[in-house]
Amino acid sequence: MSAIRIVRGEYRGTTVKNQNFTLVSGFQTGAKGGYVTVQNDGTFPNCPATIRIKVDAISDYEMINGDTVEMNTSAPTAKTVETEDEAMTRIRERFEILTEMSKACIGGDIRAMIVSGPPGVGKSYGVEQEIEKATLFDRLAGKRLRAEVVKGSATPIGLYQTLYKYSDENCVLVFDDCDSILLDDVCLNLLKGALDSGKKRKISWLSESSALRREGIPDQFDFKGSVIFITNMKFDKMKSQKLRDHLDALQSRCHYLDLTLDTMRDKILRIKQIAKDGVLFEGYDFEPETQDSIFEFMETNQTRLREMSLRMALKIADLRKLSPGNWKRLSETTCMKVAD
Ligand SMILES: Nc1ncnc2c1ncn2[C@@H]1O[C@H](COP(=O)(O)OP(=O)(O)OP(=O)(O)O)[C@@H](O)[C@H]1O
Ligand SMILES: [Mg+2]
Repeated sequence: MSAIRIVRGEYRGTTVKNQNFTLVSGFQTGAKGGYVTVQNDGTFPNCPATIRIKVDAISDYEMINGDTVEMNTSAPTAKTVETEDEAMTRIRERFEILTEMSKACIGGDIRAMIVSGPPGVGKSYGVEQEIEKATLFDRLAGKRLRAEVVKGSATPIGLYQTLYKYSDENCVLVFDDCDSILLDDVCLNLLKGALDSGKKRKISWLSESSALRREGIPDQFDFKGSVIFITNMKFDKMKSQKLRDHLDALQSRCHYLDLTLDTMRDKILRIKQIAKDGVLFEGYDFEPETQDSIFEFMETNQTRLREMSLRMALKIADLRKLSPGNWKRLSETTCMKVAD
Protein backbone atom coordinates (compact mmCIF):
# COMPACT_ATOMS: atom_id res chain seq x y z
CA MET A 1 0.00 0.00 0.00
CA SER A 2 1.32 3.43 -0.84
CA ALA A 3 1.40 6.23 1.65
CA ILE A 4 0.77 9.80 0.58
CA ARG A 5 1.02 13.17 2.20
CA ILE A 6 -1.72 15.66 1.37
CA VAL A 7 0.11 18.97 1.22
CA ARG A 8 -3.08 20.99 0.91
CA GLY A 9 -6.59 19.69 0.46
CA GLU A 10 -10.02 19.63 1.94
CA TYR A 11 -12.45 17.05 3.26
CA ARG A 12 -16.06 18.07 3.93
CA GLY A 13 -15.08 21.67 4.55
CA THR A 14 -12.12 20.80 6.81
CA THR A 15 -8.66 21.82 5.64
CA VAL A 16 -6.21 18.96 5.31
CA LYS A 17 -2.62 20.14 5.50
CA ASN A 18 0.55 18.02 5.54
CA GLN A 19 -1.31 14.93 6.74
CA ASN A 20 -0.41 11.37 5.80
CA PHE A 21 -2.87 8.76 4.54
CA THR A 22 -2.90 5.36 2.88
CA LEU A 23 -3.66 5.80 -0.80
CA VAL A 24 -6.60 3.93 -2.29
CA SER A 25 -6.55 5.47 -5.75
CA GLY A 26 -4.71 8.37 -7.36
CA PHE A 27 -5.73 11.78 -8.65
CA GLN A 28 -9.00 11.95 -10.54
CA THR A 29 -11.23 14.76 -11.66
CA GLY A 30 -14.95 14.62 -11.03
CA ALA A 31 -17.83 17.05 -11.42
CA LYS A 32 -16.63 19.04 -8.39
CA GLY A 33 -12.97 19.08 -9.36
CA GLY A 34 -9.91 17.02 -8.46
CA TYR A 35 -9.65 14.50 -5.62
CA VAL A 36 -7.64 11.56 -4.33
CA THR A 37 -9.17 8.56 -2.59
CA VAL A 38 -7.56 7.50 0.69
CA GLN A 39 -8.26 5.36 3.74
CA ASN A 40 -9.78 7.36 6.57
CA ASP A 41 -7.42 5.86 9.19
CA GLY A 42 -9.55 7.44 11.95
CA THR A 43 -8.60 11.03 11.12
CA PHE A 44 -12.23 11.91 10.46
CA PRO A 45 -14.45 10.20 13.05
CA ASN A 46 -17.95 9.12 11.99
CA CYS A 47 -16.96 9.27 8.34
CA PRO A 48 -16.62 6.40 5.83
CA ALA A 49 -13.54 4.16 5.86
CA THR A 50 -12.63 5.35 2.38
CA ILE A 51 -12.83 9.07 1.70
CA ARG A 52 -12.18 11.44 -1.16
CA ILE A 53 -10.00 14.39 -0.29
CA LYS A 54 -10.45 17.39 -2.53
CA VAL A 55 -7.19 18.63 -4.04
CA ASP A 56 -6.83 21.29 -6.71
CA ALA A 57 -3.88 19.77 -8.47
CA ILE A 58 -1.68 16.75 -8.55
CA SER A 59 1.03 18.78 -6.88
CA ASP A 60 -1.16 19.10 -3.77
CA TYR A 61 -0.06 15.68 -2.60
CA GLU A 62 3.13 13.69 -2.64
CA MET A 63 4.11 10.08 -2.36
CA ILE A 64 6.01 9.03 0.71
CA ASN A 65 8.90 6.53 0.38
CA GLY A 66 9.70 7.55 -3.19
CA ASP A 67 6.68 5.85 -4.75
CA THR A 68 5.49 7.28 -8.03
CA VAL A 69 2.13 8.97 -8.30
CA GLU A 70 -0.21 6.68 -10.17
CA MET A 71 -2.88 8.18 -12.36
CA ASN A 72 -6.16 6.45 -11.89
CA THR A 73 -7.08 6.73 -15.51
CA SER A 74 -6.31 3.35 -16.97
CA ALA A 75 -8.83 1.62 -19.19
CA PRO A 76 -11.53 -0.13 -17.20
CA THR A 77 -11.17 -3.89 -16.90
CA ALA A 78 -12.71 -6.12 -19.52
CA LYS A 79 -15.64 -6.82 -17.20
CA THR A 80 -17.13 -3.38 -17.66
CA VAL A 81 -18.08 -2.45 -21.18
CA GLU A 82 -17.00 1.11 -21.76
CA THR A 83 -19.15 3.18 -24.10
CA GLU A 84 -17.56 5.42 -26.71
CA ASP A 85 -18.48 8.52 -24.70
CA GLU A 86 -16.95 7.09 -21.55
CA ALA A 87 -13.77 6.23 -23.41
CA MET A 88 -13.64 9.77 -24.84
CA THR A 89 -14.00 11.19 -21.32
CA ARG A 90 -11.27 8.91 -20.01
CA ILE A 91 -8.89 9.91 -22.80
CA ARG A 92 -9.63 13.61 -22.41
CA GLU A 93 -9.01 13.33 -18.68
CA ARG A 94 -5.61 11.77 -19.30
CA PHE A 95 -4.53 14.65 -21.48
CA GLU A 96 -5.89 17.11 -18.94
CA ILE A 97 -3.62 15.45 -16.41
CA LEU A 98 -0.72 15.81 -18.86
CA THR A 99 -1.48 19.54 -19.10
CA GLU A 100 -1.82 19.91 -15.38
CA MET A 101 1.36 18.02 -14.58
CA SER A 102 3.25 20.02 -17.21
CA LYS A 103 2.06 23.23 -15.59
CA ALA A 104 3.13 21.93 -12.18
CA CYS A 105 6.61 21.11 -13.53
CA ILE A 106 6.93 24.52 -15.16
CA GLY A 107 5.77 26.17 -11.94
CA GLY A 108 8.35 24.18 -9.97
CA ASP A 109 5.71 22.36 -7.88
CA ILE A 110 6.83 19.05 -9.34
CA ARG A 111 10.49 18.28 -9.76
CA ALA A 112 10.25 15.71 -12.51
CA MET A 113 7.84 13.70 -14.59
CA ILE A 114 8.05 10.99 -17.17
CA VAL A 115 5.37 10.93 -19.87
CA SER A 116 5.09 7.66 -21.72
CA GLY A 117 2.79 6.78 -24.61
CA PRO A 118 2.66 5.49 -28.18
CA PRO A 119 3.94 7.60 -31.10
CA GLY A 120 2.01 10.48 -32.56
CA VAL A 121 -0.73 10.83 -29.95
CA GLY A 122 0.14 14.34 -28.76
CA LYS A 123 2.69 13.94 -25.96
CA SER A 124 5.11 16.55 -27.28
CA TYR A 125 2.28 18.83 -28.34
CA GLY A 126 0.71 18.81 -24.87
CA VAL A 127 3.95 19.64 -23.07
CA GLU A 128 5.19 22.15 -25.67
CA GLN A 129 1.96 24.11 -25.57
CA GLU A 130 2.36 24.68 -21.84
CA ILE A 131 6.02 25.62 -22.27
CA GLU A 132 5.10 28.10 -24.96
CA LYS A 133 2.45 29.71 -22.80
CA ALA A 134 4.86 29.96 -19.88
CA THR A 135 7.66 31.50 -21.92
CA LEU A 136 5.54 33.86 -24.03
CA PHE A 137 6.42 36.99 -22.10
CA ASP A 138 10.11 36.17 -22.00
CA ARG A 139 10.09 35.64 -25.76
CA LEU A 140 8.31 38.92 -26.37
CA ALA A 141 10.76 40.71 -24.10
CA GLY A 142 13.70 39.02 -25.84
CA LYS A 143 14.83 37.56 -22.50
CA ARG A 144 16.69 34.33 -22.09
CA LEU A 145 14.18 31.49 -22.03
CA ARG A 146 13.94 29.52 -18.86
CA ALA A 147 12.85 26.37 -20.68
CA GLU A 148 14.48 24.20 -23.27
CA VAL A 149 13.29 21.20 -25.23
CA VAL A 150 16.12 18.79 -25.98
CA LYS A 151 15.39 16.31 -28.76
CA GLY A 152 17.44 13.37 -29.96
CA SER A 153 20.57 12.37 -28.13
CA ALA A 154 23.11 14.00 -25.84
CA THR A 155 26.57 13.00 -24.67
CA PRO A 156 27.14 12.86 -20.90
CA ILE A 157 29.18 16.09 -20.96
CA GLY A 158 26.55 17.76 -23.17
CA LEU A 159 23.91 16.73 -20.65
CA TYR A 160 26.01 18.09 -17.76
CA GLN A 161 26.34 21.43 -19.58
CA THR A 162 22.60 21.58 -20.32
CA LEU A 163 21.73 20.77 -16.71
CA TYR A 164 24.07 23.55 -15.59
CA LYS A 165 22.55 26.06 -18.02
CA TYR A 166 19.07 25.31 -16.70
CA SER A 167 19.93 24.73 -13.06
CA ASP A 168 18.01 27.68 -11.60
CA GLU A 169 14.84 26.94 -9.73
CA ASN A 170 12.52 28.47 -12.27
CA CYS A 171 14.00 26.50 -15.20
CA VAL A 172 12.45 23.56 -17.01
CA LEU A 173 14.21 21.05 -19.22
CA VAL A 174 12.22 18.77 -21.51
CA PHE A 175 13.96 15.68 -22.87
CA ASP A 176 11.77 14.67 -25.77
CA ASP A 177 12.51 11.27 -27.33
CA CYS A 178 15.97 11.26 -25.78
CA ASP A 179 15.87 7.59 -24.89
CA SER A 180 19.60 7.22 -25.41
CA ILE A 181 20.30 9.37 -22.33
CA LEU A 182 18.02 7.17 -20.27
CA LEU A 183 19.98 4.14 -21.37
CA ASP A 184 23.45 5.54 -20.76
CA ASP A 185 25.00 4.86 -17.34
CA VAL A 186 26.80 8.19 -16.96
CA CYS A 187 23.80 10.23 -18.15
CA LEU A 188 21.46 8.34 -15.90
CA ASN A 189 23.68 8.92 -12.88
CA LEU A 190 23.75 12.65 -13.62
CA LEU A 191 19.96 12.67 -13.85
CA LYS A 192 19.64 10.67 -10.67
CA GLY A 193 21.74 13.32 -8.90
CA ALA A 194 19.75 16.15 -10.48
CA LEU A 195 16.43 14.71 -9.38
CA ASP A 196 17.26 13.27 -5.99
CA SER A 197 14.64 13.82 -3.35
CA GLY A 198 16.94 15.52 -0.81
CA LYS A 199 16.95 19.28 -0.32
CA LYS A 200 20.25 19.73 -2.16
CA ARG A 201 20.70 18.13 -5.52
CA LYS A 202 24.39 18.29 -6.20
CA ILE A 203 25.80 17.11 -9.52
CA SER A 204 29.49 16.62 -10.14
CA TRP A 205 31.67 16.09 -13.16
CA LEU A 206 34.50 14.00 -11.86
CA SER A 207 37.07 14.07 -14.64
CA GLU A 208 39.06 17.07 -15.77
CA SER A 209 37.48 18.73 -18.80
CA SER A 210 38.88 21.57 -20.85
CA ALA A 211 35.48 21.98 -22.54
CA LEU A 212 33.85 22.78 -19.20
CA ARG A 213 36.69 25.10 -18.19
CA ARG A 214 36.42 26.97 -21.47
CA GLU A 215 32.72 27.55 -20.90
CA GLY A 216 33.25 28.54 -17.28
CA ILE A 217 31.19 25.62 -15.98
CA PRO A 218 32.15 24.44 -12.48
CA ASP A 219 32.82 20.77 -11.86
CA GLN A 220 29.95 20.64 -9.41
CA PHE A 221 26.78 22.60 -8.86
CA ASP A 222 23.29 22.35 -7.33
CA PHE A 223 20.47 21.62 -9.72
CA LYS A 224 17.23 23.34 -8.74
CA GLY A 225 15.24 23.10 -11.96
CA SER A 226 12.50 20.73 -13.13
CA VAL A 227 12.73 18.05 -15.78
CA ILE A 228 10.16 16.42 -18.06
CA PHE A 229 10.96 13.26 -19.99
CA ILE A 230 8.82 12.28 -22.95
CA THR A 231 9.28 8.77 -24.26
CA ASN A 232 7.69 5.90 -26.15
CA MET A 233 9.29 3.44 -23.74
CA LYS A 234 7.10 1.74 -21.20
CA PHE A 235 9.33 1.70 -18.14
CA ASP A 236 7.50 -1.06 -16.33
CA LYS A 237 7.31 -3.33 -19.36
CA MET A 238 11.03 -3.37 -20.20
CA LYS A 239 12.12 -6.95 -20.72
CA SER A 240 15.72 -6.63 -19.59
CA GLN A 241 15.94 -6.82 -15.79
CA LYS A 242 19.18 -4.79 -15.78
CA LEU A 243 17.53 -2.00 -17.72
CA ARG A 244 14.46 -2.13 -15.53
CA ASP A 245 16.50 -1.78 -12.35
CA HIS A 246 18.31 1.08 -13.97
CA LEU A 247 15.15 2.90 -14.96
CA ASP A 248 13.41 2.11 -11.67
CA ALA A 249 15.89 4.41 -9.95
CA LEU A 250 14.81 7.25 -12.22
CA GLN A 251 11.13 6.39 -12.05
CA SER A 252 11.26 6.48 -8.28
CA ARG A 253 12.40 10.12 -8.46
CA CYS A 254 9.73 11.16 -10.97
CA HIS A 255 6.00 11.31 -11.36
CA TYR A 256 5.19 8.76 -14.03
CA LEU A 257 2.30 9.36 -16.41
CA ASP A 258 1.55 6.54 -18.81
CA LEU A 259 -1.00 7.80 -21.32
CA THR A 260 -1.84 4.15 -22.06
CA LEU A 261 -3.52 4.87 -25.37
CA ASP A 262 -2.57 1.41 -26.42
CA THR A 263 -5.62 -0.07 -28.07
CA MET A 264 -6.55 0.69 -31.66
CA ARG A 265 -9.95 1.92 -30.48
CA ASP A 266 -8.41 4.42 -28.06
CA LYS A 267 -6.14 5.80 -30.75
CA ILE A 268 -8.99 6.22 -33.22
CA LEU A 269 -11.08 7.94 -30.55
CA ARG A 270 -8.24 10.31 -29.71
CA ILE A 271 -7.94 11.31 -33.38
CA LYS A 272 -11.69 11.90 -33.62
CA GLN A 273 -11.63 13.86 -30.39
CA ILE A 274 -8.96 16.29 -31.54
CA ALA A 275 -10.65 16.67 -34.92
CA LYS A 276 -14.01 17.25 -33.24
CA ASP A 277 -12.47 19.98 -31.09
CA GLY A 278 -11.75 21.66 -34.42
CA VAL A 279 -7.98 21.88 -34.08
CA LEU A 280 -6.53 18.88 -35.87
CA PHE A 281 -7.63 19.79 -39.41
CA GLU A 282 -7.55 23.53 -38.80
CA GLY A 283 -6.18 25.17 -41.89
CA TYR A 284 -7.32 22.43 -44.28
CA ASP A 285 -10.80 23.94 -44.78
CA PHE A 286 -12.40 20.52 -45.02
CA GLU A 287 -16.16 20.06 -45.08
CA PRO A 288 -17.41 17.79 -42.27
CA GLU A 289 -18.05 15.04 -44.85
CA THR A 290 -14.44 15.21 -45.98
CA GLN A 291 -13.22 14.79 -42.40
CA ASP A 292 -15.59 11.85 -42.00
CA SER A 293 -14.30 10.22 -45.16
CA ILE A 294 -10.75 10.41 -43.76
CA PHE A 295 -11.81 8.76 -40.48
CA GLU A 296 -13.76 6.12 -42.37
CA PHE A 297 -10.76 5.36 -44.53
CA MET A 298 -8.51 5.10 -41.46
CA GLU A 299 -10.94 2.88 -39.60
CA THR A 300 -11.46 0.56 -42.57
CA ASN A 301 -7.73 0.23 -43.06
CA GLN A 302 -6.70 0.30 -39.40
CA THR A 303 -4.67 -2.90 -39.56
CA ARG A 304 -2.93 -1.92 -42.79
CA LEU A 305 -1.80 1.59 -41.80
CA ARG A 306 1.79 1.82 -40.59
CA GLU A 307 0.55 3.42 -37.38
CA MET A 308 -2.68 4.80 -36.01
CA SER A 309 -1.91 8.30 -34.82
CA LEU A 310 -2.70 11.99 -35.15
CA ARG A 311 0.36 12.24 -37.30
CA MET A 312 -1.03 9.62 -39.71
CA ALA A 313 -4.34 11.50 -39.87
CA LEU A 314 -2.44 14.64 -40.85
CA LYS A 315 -0.47 12.78 -43.54
CA ILE A 316 -3.69 11.47 -45.07
CA ALA A 317 -5.26 14.94 -44.81
CA ASP A 318 -2.29 16.33 -46.77
CA LEU A 319 -2.90 13.77 -49.51
CA ARG A 320 -6.64 14.49 -49.53
CA LYS A 321 -5.89 18.17 -50.03
CA LEU A 322 -3.26 17.46 -52.68
CA SER A 323 -5.37 15.11 -54.71
CA PRO A 324 -9.11 15.01 -53.94
CA GLY A 325 -9.62 12.34 -56.61
CA ASN A 326 -6.70 10.05 -55.90
CA TRP A 327 -5.89 10.45 -52.17
CA LYS A 328 -6.89 6.92 -51.20
CA ARG A 329 -4.55 5.39 -53.74
CA LEU A 330 -1.73 7.72 -52.64
CA SER A 331 -2.39 6.86 -48.99
CA GLU A 332 -2.35 3.15 -49.76
CA THR A 333 1.00 3.50 -51.42
CA THR A 334 2.69 5.71 -48.86
CA CYS A 335 0.96 5.10 -45.53
CA MET A 336 0.32 1.39 -45.52
CA LYS A 337 2.46 -1.59 -44.78
CA VAL A 338 3.53 -3.54 -47.82
CA ALA A 339 1.64 -6.85 -48.01
CA ASP A 340 3.88 -9.96 -47.84
N1 LIG B 1 -4.32 18.62 -29.13
C1 LIG B 1 -3.88 18.72 -30.38
N2 LIG B 1 -4.44 19.58 -31.24
C2 LIG B 1 -4.01 19.68 -32.50
N3 LIG B 1 -3.00 18.97 -33.03
C3 LIG B 1 -2.41 18.10 -32.23
C4 LIG B 1 -2.80 17.92 -30.86
N4 LIG B 1 -2.02 16.99 -30.30
C5 LIG B 1 -1.17 16.62 -31.26
N5 LIG B 1 -1.41 17.26 -32.41
C6 LIG B 1 -0.66 17.08 -33.67
O1 LIG B 1 -0.47 15.67 -33.87
C7 LIG B 1 0.83 15.39 -34.32
C8 LIG B 1 1.51 14.39 -33.38
O2 LIG B 1 1.62 14.96 -32.08
P1 LIG B 1 2.97 14.89 -31.23
O3 LIG B 1 4.13 15.20 -32.06
O4 LIG B 1 2.75 15.68 -30.00
O5 LIG B 1 2.98 13.33 -30.87
P2 LIG B 1 3.92 12.52 -29.86
O6 LIG B 1 3.00 11.73 -28.99
O7 LIG B 1 4.90 13.41 -29.23
O8 LIG B 1 4.64 11.49 -30.85
P3 LIG B 1 6.14 10.87 -30.80
O9 LIG B 1 6.15 9.87 -29.69
O10 LIG B 1 6.28 10.19 -32.12
O11 LIG B 1 7.07 12.00 -30.59
C9 LIG B 1 1.57 16.73 -34.40
O12 LIG B 1 1.57 17.16 -35.74
C10 LIG B 1 0.74 17.66 -33.55
O13 LIG B 1 0.80 18.97 -34.03
MG1 LIG C 1 6.93 13.64 -29.57
